[in-house]
Amino acid sequence: MFKPQHMYDREFGTGNGYSNGNGYTNGNGHTNGNGNYNGNGHVNGNGKANGAKVVKMKPMDSELLREQGHIMVDFIADYYKNLQDSPQDFPVLSQVQPGYLRDMLPDSAPERPESLKELLDDVSKKIMPGITHWQSPSYFAYYASSTSVAGFLGEMLNAGLSVVGFTWLTSPAATELEIIVLDWLAKLLQLPDHFLSTGKGNGGGVIQGTGCEAVLVVVLAARDRILKKVGKTLLPQLVVYGSDQTHSSFRKACLIGGIHEENIRLLKTDSSTNYGMPPESLEEAISHDLAKGFIPFFICATVGTTSSAAVDPLVPLGNIAKKYGIWLHVDAAYAGNACICPEYRKFIDGIENADSFNMNAHKWLFANQTCSPLWVKDRYSLIDALKTNPEYLEFKVSKKDTVVNYKDWQISLSRRFRSLKLWMVLRLYGSENLRNFIRDHVNLAKHFEDYVAQDPSFEVVTTRYFSLVCFRLAPVDGDEDQCNERNRELLAAVNSTGKIFISHTALSGKFVLRFAVGAPLTEEKHVTEAWQIIQKHASKFTRNDHY
Ligand SMILES: Cc1ncc(COP(=O)(O)O)c(C=O)c1O
Repeated sequence: MFKPQHMYDREFGTGNGYSNGNGYTNGNGHTNGNGNYNGNGHVNGNGKANGAKVVKMKPMDSELLREQGHIMVDFIADYYKNLQDSPQDFPVLSQVQPGYLRDMLPDSAPERPESLKELLDDVSKKIMPGITHWQSPSYFAYYASSTSVAGFLGEMLNAGLSVVGFTWLTSPAATELEIIVLDWLAKLLQLPDHFLSTGKGNGGGVIQGTGCEAVLVVVLAARDRILKKVGKTLLPQLVVYGSDQTHSSFRKACLIGGIHEENIRLLKTDSSTNYGMPPESLEEAISHDLAKGFIPFFICATVGTTSSAAVDPLVPLGNIAKKYGIWLHVDAAYAGNACICPEYRKFIDGIENADSFNMNAHKWLFANQTCSPLWVKDRYSLIDALKTNPEYLEFKVSKKDTVVNYKDWQISLSRRFRSLKLWMVLRLYGSENLRNFIRDHVNLAKHFEDYVAQDPSFEVVTTRYFSLVCFRLAPVDGDEDQCNERNRELLAAVNSTGKIFISHTALSGKFVLRFAVGAPLTEEKHVTEAWQIIQKHASKFTRNDHY
């Protein structure tokens, strides 16, 4: 069971200076600083603590925050330490059964306050078993959710300030820092000038919560732009294009935007393009739709698909988009992060013809959940689609035309001060280190790929560009059904060990295993151990094949 050492030392009065002396924590770990608690940590029935005058409990007390904040930071630091030192206590993929928590927690919320100790005990005993440890060094599933000390501190500062910067006025720094930091990041990615707030056009960046929100807002912007031109009644004629590898959020965004399901064209891909969208299929589909009176208005290209990190070729897709006046969105949620390295920048060559570009800094830029920068070439397309101007949000500033009100660039009104953590990540690491973190991950993936390639029982299924390896146990005598079944079994077997977590996908009917490097604690030894576990569980099949 997870035991955060520091927490116990501090909260339970081991003479280390955290108990009692400051008036906030008594010897048995119960908070007493606000006068609501008696010596044994229980609130008495008449509202008075040991006969003393009751002081109303404060939800935000700076000294209590200091005390308990330290405890919480220690708890989290111990978590990261234990993930590395005692991996046996942390099955990477949670092994609990559905509904496990219901029996462990009361039916209703407590009427009286409980102590932080009680709560953290419950986290250790009841919550931790139901955690899939995305930050474990042996986490290789989906795409990582990368964390860092800088990202964590940024989240902490954000939670502490807790501003709601929906308009410039509601926290000028929140808006202005976001503009500046997204210009910084755009420069690191060598995005075209038209995406920068300082560029000649009307471009700019905004941090969306997630990639799903990013694609939704640009679909809405593009939809309204075309409807303004052709008339609202032609909504049923609007057509969009992606590939059969495009993230499912694209379809959802289109449906929310009123695009008819049968007008969502997901073009077929296969191994001949390494699962990238074939530009010829796109042009053919557009010509066909135009001939039938449809109105093509949106293309969603992906750099680093969710399934296999495939790359759609932006240069020809951009030329097609330009030729037909179609909005081109580039979803680079995962691989966009790698494009801060000059050697990977080529994957977004052609971005000049895109109308919007999105990446998830929480996936691979160490910016903790969630942080999804989106850049648009024409901010007014977004604003026209999403602006609301109720009287209660009206304000006048001397240079009104020059202020950004981010509420008009996104769905929700309330917004977090996410640029703080991105700013902290960029400053506290520097771009050179960030590039090297990414390169390390790619090298580790290459290392794994080499293991796979050297074992004749396995095969690498796609050409690897970044830190994802798609592989499988190879078919025996061309039997694809048996091969799929074996890979399915292998996946379940390795994940049930709790020692590693990998995921899967399907490509051209093949059940494929995915090994994605991206957790911040992963080192070569974890990759080697992972391969040994996979090989060991695969030996059941490979032995049978030989005898
Ligand atoms: C290519 C791609 N696009 C979009 C998304 C969705 O991002 P989010 O989970 O931030 O909504 C993902 C998630 O993995 C992705 O891989």
